[in-house]
This record gives sequence, structure tokens and C-alpha cells, in this order.
Amino acid sequence: MELFVTCSQGLEPLLIDELQALGCQNLRTGYRGVYVPEATLEDIYRINYCSRLGGRVLMPLSRFRCPHRDGLYRGIAELDWMPLIPDNKTFAIDANVTHKELRNSLYAAQVTKDAICDQLRDQRGRRPNIDPTNPDIQLNLFIREPWATIYLDTSGKPLYKRGYRVERGEAPMQETLAAALLTLAGYTSSEILCDPCCGSGTLLIEAALMAAAIPPGFLRTEWGFRFHPEFSQALWLKVKAEADRHRKTLEPGRFFGCDANKEVVRNCKANLRAAGLQKAIEVVASDFRDYTPPIPPTFVIANPPHGRRLGEADRLQPIYRALGDFLKSKTAKPARAFVFIGDMALTKEMGLASKRRHVIDNNGVDSRLLEFDVF
Ligand SMILES: C[S@@+](CC[C@H](N)C(=O)[O-])C[C@H]1O[C@@H](n2cnc3c(N)ncnc32)[C@H](O)[C@@H]1O
Repeated sequence: MELFVTCSQGLEPLLIDELQALGCQNLRTGYRGVYVPEATLEDIYRINYCSRLGGRVLMPLSRFRCPHRDGLYRGIAELDWMPLIPDNKTFAIDANVTHKELRNSLYAAQVTKDAICDQLRDQRGRRPNIDPTNPDIQLNLFIREPWATIYLDTSGKPLYKRGYRVERGEAPMQETLAAALLTLAGYTSSEILCDPCCGSGTLLIEAALMAAAIPPGFLRTEWGFRFHPEFSQALWLKVKAEADRHRKTLEPGRFFGCDANKEVVRNCKANLRAAGLQKAIEVVASDFRDYTPPIPPTFVIANPPHGRRLGEADRLQPIYRALGDFLKSKTAKPARAFVFIGDMALTKEMGLASKRRHVIDNNGVDSRLLEFDVF
């Protein structure tokens, strides 16, 4: 079977590298994701558990021609849904549709739902329950005229939900994006890392998980693949044990962060505790202008407040100027620094020339990861 692993737009090359490192071959780039041909159940478990960049792992159940509404209904009805949606389990459908007749994704999802419910009602005598927010079984319909593919979402909840975010910061960064930025930055466990605008701690936590080789799915207990009729508990436990074997204990003194907002730092500490990283990551409530990391960092990464709202950019200019000063005065020399930003004009205030710029689509906002060498 050919899996489709989703990711944010632009991250496909990084995801290909990651999937190759996880043992997948002959990968193909798709629209916001990567195709994994000839995948096994073991691949499904490993990618779900170990991918830091993937969003969902979709397993095709059927691919069929879908010239019109009736073609969609028939194609879905031809599948045997009895083993796929067990009695008393709820399901939901996500749809992504480009089709002249089935223009509306909601409509296509409705047709799919009707075909499934009609079949199950005929066989069981009652309709299954739909739960759009927290379904047991998440299905995914993808139509590019004239082809339709119906997938089982083997992740269930998206993979960015690692299980450590008990509290949200002001504008928390998505976990998969944080992992992608660290990967682009070439972060390695030998660095002393500091995030001077750490918010809920996503960059710090993702970096520490990488350094300790803790699989990103380590804290998760729910997986979509558990509901698949061929789910093998023994194989899943084997894949999990193999990945867990590489975990290392982190010594304190390698991860530092601060944030000016006390409430946000409280939330961050709750997240660190949930991740089991409260001893490895030291976070304080402080404006970074008044903060000196206990050990000069060799690697700084931050997404400072952005000036997207009208009039905000002027207010933020002194913060970017101070961030430039922080990099020049508070880091080890040489150090590498990375600033993730949507508004390029503000970074001019930093008084440092960027060495490289990576363009990243952040939920539709054209953003940049800027790299600086600090001597
Ligand atoms: C875009 S958010 C960072 C989000 C963070 N990466 C996360 O995953 O939650 C920017 C953060 O910078 C903090 N901040 C703003 N000015 C600051 C300053 N002068 N010193 C320290 N933190 C500051 C804000 O409180 C906010 O939490």
C-alpha cells in the first residue's frame, strides 16, 4: 500500500529526509505531503511514533474513478465497512476535493458518510454515530477529478499533538513547525541552546526531545491505527520498544529560556513537567534584556513577537534592536542564531546581517527563518 504522510507546505523535502532515515524508500513528493510506497504495518507504526515533521499518516482503503456524485457513493459503498467501523465506534470524515460536480468538500464528505451509514444500517439494523470532534475512526477523502481516494487516518489525532501541551502560550508555535525549524537550523545535541522569547516552550521542548532521542509520540496513548482490523499489538510494542531503546538522559545545563510574561512562563513550566523535562530545561520569567543565561549559549533560536497588526511594528522595533544586542553580548563566540519571523522589516533593527534565509509557509503566512553567525 502507498501511504500519504501529510506536512505543512514547503516541508516536503525535510519530511523525505526524515522518512528515509526511518527506513522508507522510493518516496514521492505530493501536495503538502509525501507518498510512501510499499509500506507495511510496521512502517505505519514507526512513522506515527517517530516522525517529528509529519502531520498525519494516511492509509489508502480504496482508490476509484469518481466522475460524479453517484460514482463517489458507489465507490465508497463497494468497500466492506463492517470491520473498519466496529459497532459502537464513532467516525468522522475530512475531505479535500477538487471536482467540477462535487465542488464542495462538505458535500463530498456528506455523500461518503451516507454511503457508509447506509451500508452499516442495512447490515446492523442501526446507523453508526458520527463524532466530528473526537472520533474513534478518522477517515480522509481526497478527490482530484476523476480519482477519489478514501484513507484511514492511522494517526487519529494529528501528530503535532505530542501530549505535553497542558497549557497554551500566547501564540504557541506548532510542534511540527518547531521541529522543522530545528532541523533546518541543523540543531545537534552538542549545542547549548537558548530561546529568549520561549513562550510555552515549544522550541525548547522539541530540541530536548531530539537531543534525548525521545520519540515524539512517546507521551501519546491514542492512535488511529489501533482501530484497524489488522492491528497487531505485538508488532506495535516491538516498534515502540526499538525506538525507545535509543533514549538518553539529559544533563542539566544545555537548555535555557526566558519570557517576559509571567503567566506564559507558568504555562511553559507545566508543559516541561508534562514532558518530563523540567530538570533538563531551565526557564525563568524575565525580559531577555535583563537576562543572562547561566552558560553562554552556542545556539539561539526564537520566534519573537511579530508585528503583523497595524501599528505594532513601531512598538516592536526596540525589542528587535535589543535582540540583536542580546545575540552580540550574551552568547558564546562563535555562536549560531536563528530568528523565525513574518515581518522582515523588523529584523533590520537587529544590526546583524543574516547569513541565510529559509522561506517557510506558516499557516498561510509567508515567514522566514533567518540564520546569523555571531562572532
Ligand atoms: C510568538 S511568541 C513565542 C511563542 C513560543 N515559540 C511558543 O512556542 O509558545 C513570542 C513571545 O515573546 C515574549 N516576549 C515579548 N517580548 C519579550 C521580551 N522583551 N523578553 C522576553 N520575552 C518577550 C512574549 O511574551 C511571547 O511569549
